[in-house]
Amino acid sequence: MLSYRHSFHAGNYADVLKHLIQVAVLNYLRRKDKPFIYMDTHAAAGMYSLVSDEAGKNSEYQGGIAALEALLSRTDSTLLVDYWKAVRACREEHGDNTYPGSPWLAQHLMRDQDRALMFELHPQDLGSLEQLTYRDRRILVRGEDSFTGLIAALPPKIRRGLVLIDPPYEVKTDYDRVVNLISAAHRRFATATYALWYPVVDRARIQRLEQRLVRAGIANIQLFELGICPDSDVHGMTASGMILVNPPYTLKPDLDSLLPGLTSRLADANGFAGQGHWRSEILVGEQG
Ligand SMILES: C[S@@+](CC[C@H](N)C(=O)[O-])C[C@H]1O[C@@H](n2cnc3c(N)ncnc32)[C@H](O)[C@@H]1O
Repeated sequence: MLSYRHSFHAGNYADVLKHLIQVAVLNYLRRKDKPFIYMDTHAAAGMYSLVSDEAGKNSEYQGGIAALEALLSRTDSTLLVDYWKAVRACREEHGDNTYPGSPWLAQHLMRDQDRALMFELHPQDLGSLEQLTYRDRRILVRGEDSFTGLIAALPPKIRRGLVLIDPPYEVKTDYDRVVNLISAAHRRFATATYALWYPVVDRARIQRLEQRLVRAGIANIQLFELGICPDSDVHGMTASGMILVNPPYTLKPDLDSLLPGLTSRLADANGFAGQGHWRSEILVGEQG
């Protein structure tokens, strides 16, 4: 049974890190004219209203996208500026109170020659995603389980791209399944960049996930994490991160400059001033 709905969380501090990395990787792929493919294993609705009942329930975006404006006036981070440009483009197209999901961001950054494959299981979110993309012949949407659907679609004809893996982790076995998914996908499509999102609710689970990925025999893995308060058993999600296989070489230096200020701002906006923490690590080097 699927109960997770991203509309409750859209634009929160976890989305900020995830989407700014997604935009950075897609912009890196756009540096060459050669086509890229974007694969989104857990696409959700594609775009969100921040004035919906769901978004208003805990107003999580207040501790995420809404807190960034103060930082933008004094940043020289291309990552942050590019992400903000994409968010603004979504607002210009759909209204001031909207926030783009990963499918909207991809669709916005794709060129004529690029292609996308997106998976979503929840009927309502699938309907919204189909509505957003049905006129776009570059994008194929499938209402299938991506853990099997992604592998069946590999290798794609286009041999460069980004695979975003963003499960809700409602089912605890997802922490193991994502490692198996990346291993199997990487065997078929080794040249892609993989970006796996994870929440820190139980630190031990993330440590196991990292250990399993390190032992998977895949080279060039980096991890980036942004936490708003120390690990805890009572606060729910206290941090979230992205693990990338084959990241652009520019990503780590760019995030190393951005993460301290971004973390401090977002921790503050979530009511945890001075308690933020971040990680930027090479889990496996380029030579394996
Ligand atoms: C965290 S949300 C995705 C958010 C989206 N990637 C974004 O950044 O805008 C996770 C989504 O995965 C969907 N989902 C869960 N299990 C799935 C599966 N096995 N295959 C495809 N979609 C799945 C859920 O219905 C949910 O909408």
